[in-house]
Amino acid sequence: MRRLASLLIIFLHVSHSTTSEDSISPWDPPGSTNFIGNFNGCLCREYTSIYATCYNPENCRRFPRNFRTDLNRFRLATTSVENITVADFDNLTNIEILEIEANKDLKWIENGAFTNMINLKSLSISYNSNLQYLDEDVFEGLISLESLSIRQNSFDQVKNFSFSLKSRFMPNLRKLELIDLRCMTVDKDDFRNLNGSRLEEFNLIDSQVEYIHPEALLPLINLKVLNLGENLINTSVLIDLLEHLTSNNITLNTLSLYGWGFKKYVPKDVLEVISKSRVKELILSKNQFDIISDDLFPYMPDLEILHLNEVLLSNFTFNAFSKLPNLRTLCLTKNKFPSIPKGAPAQNLKELVVTQEARYFTLDNDTFVNMSGLEKLDLSSNNIRKIPNGSFTGLRKLQYLNLKNSTIFYIDIGSFDGLAALKFLSLERNPFPNRTFCPEVFAGLTNLEELELGYCAITHLPLDIFKRLPSLKRLDLKMNQIKTINPVVLSPLHNLEEINLSWNMLSSWNNNFFKHNPKIAALYINNNKITHFTKAILEDISSMDTLDLSGNLFNCECSNFRVFSTLNRSTMTHILNLLNQMPNTKCVTEKFTDYTIMEYFNKTYLGEECKLITNDILLDYLIPSIILLIITALTASVLYIYRWHIRYWIFLTKMFLSRRAQFNRTITLEGHDNYLYDAFVSYSSEDRNFVVRLVAMLENYEPFLKLCVYERDFEIGTFISESVLECVSRSRKTLLIISNSYIKSQWCRWEAQVAENHRLFFENEYGECVNDSIIMIKLGTISQQNLSPMLKYLMKTRIYLQWDSDDSKQKQFWEKLRNALAPPVNVYAVKKEETISGDTKD
Ligand SMILES: *[C@@H]1O[C@H](CO)[C@@H](O)[C@H](O)[C@H]1NC(C)=O
Ligand SMILES: *[C@@H]1O[C@H](CO)[C@@H](O)[C@H](O)[C@H]1NC(C)=O
Ligand SMILES: *[C@@H]1O[C@H](CO)[C@@H](O)[C@H](O)[C@H]1NC(C)=O
Ligand SMILES: *[C@@H]1O[C@H](CO)[C@@H](O)[C@H](O)[C@H]1NC(C)=O
Ligand SMILES: *[C@@H]1O[C@H](CO)[C@@H](O)[C@H](O)[C@H]1NC(C)=O
Ligand SMILES: *[C@@H]1O[C@H](CO)[C@@H](O)[C@H](O)[C@H]1NC(C)=O
Ligand SMILES: *[C@@H]1O[C@H](CO)[C@@H](O)[C@H](O)[C@H]1NC(C)=O
Ligand SMILES: *[C@@H]1O[C@H](CO)[C@@H](O)[C@H](O)[C@H]1NC(C)=O
Ligand SMILES: *[C@@H]1O[C@H](CO)[C@@H](O)[C@H](O)[C@H]1NC(C)=O
Ligand SMILES: *[C@@H]1O[C@H](CO)[C@@H](O)[C@H](O)[C@H]1NC(C)=O
Ligand SMILES: *[C@@H]1O[C@H](CO)[C@@H](O)[C@H](O)[C@H]1NC(C)=O
Ligand SMILES: *[C@@H]1O[C@H](CO)[C@@H](O)[C@H](O)[C@H]1NC(C)=O
Repeated sequence: MRRLASLLIIFLHVSHSTTSEDSISPWDPPGSTNFIGNFNGCLCREYTSIYATCYNPENCRRFPRNFRTDLNRFRLATTSVENITVADFDNLTNIEILEIEANKDLKWIENGAFTNMINLKSLSISYNSNLQYLDEDVFEGLISLESLSIRQNSFDQVKNFSFSLKSRFMPNLRKLELIDLRCMTVDKDDFRNLNGSRLEEFNLIDSQVEYIHPEALLPLINLKVLNLGENLINTSVLIDLLEHLTSNNITLNTLSLYGWGFKKYVPKDVLEVISKSRVKELILSKNQFDIISDDLFPYMPDLEILHLNEVLLSNFTFNAFSKLPNLRTLCLTKNKFPSIPKGAPAQNLKELVVTQEARYFTLDNDTFVNMSGLEKLDLSSNNIRKIPNGSFTGLRKLQYLNLKNSTIFYIDIGSFDGLAALKFLSLERNPFPNRTFCPEVFAGLTNLEELELGYCAITHLPLDIFKRLPSLKRLDLKMNQIKTINPVVLSPLHNLEEINLSWNMLSSWNNNFFKHNPKIAALYINNNKITHFTKAILEDISSMDTLDLSGNLFNCECSNFRVFSTLNRSTMTHILNLLNQMPNTKCVTEKFTDYTIMEYFNKTYLGEECKLITNDILLDYLIPSIILLIITALTASVLYIYRWHIRYWIFLTKMFLSRRAQFNRTITLEGHDNYLYDAFVSYSSEDRNFVVRLVAMLENYEPFLKLCVYERDFEIGTFISESVLECVSRSRKTLLIISNSYIKSQWCRWEAQVAENHRLFFENEYGECVNDSIIMIKLGTISQQNLSPMLKYLMKTRIYLQWDSDDSKQKQFWEKLRNALAPPVNVYAVKKEETISGDTKD
């Protein structure tokens, strides 16, 4: 043991010769750490929620004085600090646990160094290889100290430190641990300063002590637990010591003589003096009793608890304990026997612990028939493999059964039948669900309140698996491979208060798990695959008082918090409180990876970032849709109102494009233009008679003009508007027959407008002024007030022909009209010649 420790120290020193700023002391646990800073050569860290430490064996020569921490545990370890002086701890008075360990150069702790440590409950001064002495008054002020541990260091003699153990300075000291001291003797007055102390537990172990003065422990008037394990004390010294304690009315409850090297038996006189001292708990572990003979123990009416762990026991019967009438608890861990012996009654035994890590272990159907008093049975870590039917017959008072980690592959149906008093059953770390996992396995466990099925490789839960467990309050299913939970599985568990589903493969769920469990208040579902909150999750966790969601990788986009807006105020507050208590529930977004959910929630949902969207789904969906709708409606109505214009412009564009293509071709075709009609006649139907005459006059005589008149030439089935457009564009000219009825007709106005636009269009595009494409004939007198602005303009700027009922003037009218409508001399052909000659000149 000592050699091991020295090796450890050497290892430490070697490993620290290369200490750099960020290296971690090997004494420290792995896990997330925060480097706080360098305090006069000492490197100080905080291990999240565990402790703070300052170290550096190279350069940490003086106490890191300005260091502070909010944690309540502090380690000054692996430094080269030489002295600890008054006021060094002035900034660390909040510390409750202090460890001064493995400081190789530490020689001296000044009196009064701890005077302000009024909160200190636990102190360890250990492995400081140069510490040879503690002054008598060094612990002054440790008024709250309950536990003091002094391990190894470099004391030659007990008295080099023991006088510092003063009950006056440490009035609340209950437990003293003196381990691995290498001090051979304990003298009479070594612990004199503990006189009258309330110390209850005294451990002097693994210290190569050969002799303890029989009166050395008499100052410890309240001593209850004495542990003298692994020393070199001989039995006569022990007997002397125990006799003195007893005769001084110091009544031990617990005596530990582990590792004393007893072989086959404990000396009778030792057991007799123990018996007289009225010890209730005796620890004889790590001695060597392969066989416990039936007369090993004398009559010991006070003995209630016996530990025989690691004693290489391979064969025994319960007769061996027949003289221990009040033995309640028997611990037989890490032994070698292959089954629990039957036969002798052990009626008063209430607790049996047999955890053996044996190669082979069997249970029979009559193993426990004569142990009807047993209330607690621990058979964990045995290699049981199969639980046969009736294994637990007779255990009608059993309340606690632990079958953890026992390689159980099969459980016979009805194995637990008869365990009507059982409240706790652990089947953790067994592979049986792979073979025998059905409700009948749990038959008879009508009062079972706690069931542990962790680490059982359960992939799914049969729907009726828990139907035989009406009293279950706590269900532990941690570390399985459950992907989903059907609420029906839990529906028989009306009394369920707590469920542990941590380390499974559950993802965000949409079906309330706990619909049928009105009493549920604690849920552990950490380290699953939950990525976001759903309505069902929020409803389920809103009934919890305790919740662990840590270790799930939440996606913390605002959208994942939107579901919170469905909660009422009190539920919301409750859930936020639960979340706030889980500092390790991390969440991931595109931008951030190390926020806790609550931090992110505070920053976004509650803060401005998410508020706009989250608070108002209206803003998110409804308003944009409304705007879109309005725009669509507006566009539609505009399109509808101007439908003719649009059609017209589209048509014109089409015409223009095809005309241009044609024009480029026809430019070479002499004197030819591409019009189908010489004129389109736009008129009001009331003037039809005139138009009939007009058509006859123009089409039947030279130059045989061709007119487009919609009653005659429009194709049946086409839209009139389209036909008009078509006609206008295929006619060289447009003839407007303007009368009072014409100007009143909307339709006619539109036709006129089309004709005018048509003209302008071509005028603009070709740069040609086709001024005369509109020819107007005025029928009768026109009232000016109904004239549209466009017509007014046309009549002002254009020459129009006035129809006269006078016959003499009519001949002249038709003449003029024929001239106006006759095809022109070919303009394009002339133009082209000019262009060509112009080109050749260059
Ligand atoms: C305690 O902290 C204060 C402020 O940081 C510092 O002035 C003082 O010297 C420190 N005292 C000790 C004993 O570390
Ligand atoms: C430690 O204290 C001793 C005795 O008071 C003194 O001689 C020594 O110099 C001190 N060492 C340091 C590093 O302060
Ligand atoms: C330890 O105690 C012994 C006996 O009282 C004494 O002789 C010795 O000097 C002490 N050692 C130290 C380092 O004080
Ligand atoms: C302890 O103190 C009491 C007085 O308080 C005294 O009578 C007794 O002798 C002391 N015992 C030892 C072992 O010093
Ligand atoms: C026990 O140890 C003490 C002191 O070491 C010694 O005086 C005594 O003779 C030993 N007794 C036996 C029986 O060995
Ligand atoms: C121990 O207690 C008994 C009675 O309880 C008493 O007679 C005896 O004197 C006490 N002995 C000591 C040493 O206090
Ligand atoms: C155990 O001991 C009993 C007698 O004490 C003996 O009959 C039996 O054979 C032993 N069993 C084993 C496995 O050694
Ligand atoms: C149980 O005890 C009874 C009577 O003491 C005895 O007859 C019986 O054989 C015992 N059964 C077992 C399995 O030890
Ligand atoms: C399970 O039992 C084996 C021996 O059977 C032991 O080595 C191991 O430590 C046990 N594990 C737990 C977690 O108890
Ligand atoms: C125990 O099992 C044996 C066979 O292995 C059988 O004969 C006996 O009846 C069973 N006893 C009980 C109480 O079930
Ligand atoms: C039991 O486990 C084995 C291997 O893990 C697997 O192949 C088998 O299907 C499982 N059986 C059941 C009933 O789940
Ligand atoms: C979030 O904000 C609440 C109050 O607004 C506060 O109580 C809580 O401590 C904050 N939590 C975190 C992790 O910032």
